[in-house]
Amino acid sequence: MPVVAVANQKGGVGKTTTAVNLGAYLALGVRVLLIDLDPQANATSSLGLDPSGVELSTYEALIGQVPMADAIVSSGRLQLDLVPASRALAGAQVELVEMPDREHRLRVALSEVRTRYDVVLIDCPPSLGILTLNALVSADLLLAPVQCEYLALEGVAQLMETIELVRDTLNPRLELLGMLMTMYDPRTRLSSQVVDEVRRHFPEHTFETVIPGASD
Ligand SMILES: Nc1ncnc2c1ncn2[C@@H]1O[C@H](COP(=O)(O)OP(=O)(O)OP(=O)(O)O)[C@@H](O)[C@H]1O
Ligand SMILES: [Mg+2]
Repeated sequence: MPVVAVANQKGGVGKTTTAVNLGAYLALGVRVLLIDLDPQANATSSLGLDPSGVELSTYEALIGQVPMADAIVSSGRLQLDLVPASRALAGAQVELVEMPDREHRLRVALSEVRTRYDVVLIDCPPSLGILTLNALVSADLLLAPVQCEYLALEGVAQLMETIELVRDTLNPRLELLGMLMTMYDPRTRLSSQVVDEVRRHFPEHTFETVIPGASD
């Protein structure tokens, strides 16, 4: 039952799109839990839920107000469950800093439900703050969407430093599942240059599949 964090501190690189689509696809065969750990709640609304109408969310589960099991809802798709995010999650970033075991709260909350699922996917916010840290401490694997754009590698380097740090301290189990190159535009040289560059640095850890950008 791998727990997969979909993370990259850069915004708008395709984390949520990857988490939701991968979740929907995997749910055709196995039981999937998608955890929305982003106060923007994009995964939650992508699955058709209104974040402002969510009663129990990752927020309540993280601060320990309710067991995570109580916050799980069905996505409406077979075998795809969701722990929705709510706007309150923005406050958790501040509140968690004061709490004991602040980096381990998601891992602990998840431990009682993870045996019910074959895969857990965590959609992270675009930062390396306490929420993403909780995801990386809970995770076995990191899936990092990387947008095919100028300076992509700089962001990747920062993400790799964070993984190393987490591995050395809070979660030695954490492994890089891979970089997923997103919004690839076959018409530009830049896109293929970026893919080549990331592949050169991470030959073992760049997915062969690249995700095309919307084309006209
Ligand atoms: N392959 C793609 N082609 C075209 N547009 C895409 C693609 N993937 C994602 N998008 C669009 O790009 C925007 C950002 O994608 P997404 O929300 O998945 O990124 P994110 O990394 O989760 O963003 P954030 O950091 O804000 O959470 C969205 O409007 C999404 O619909
Ligand atoms: Mg997102």
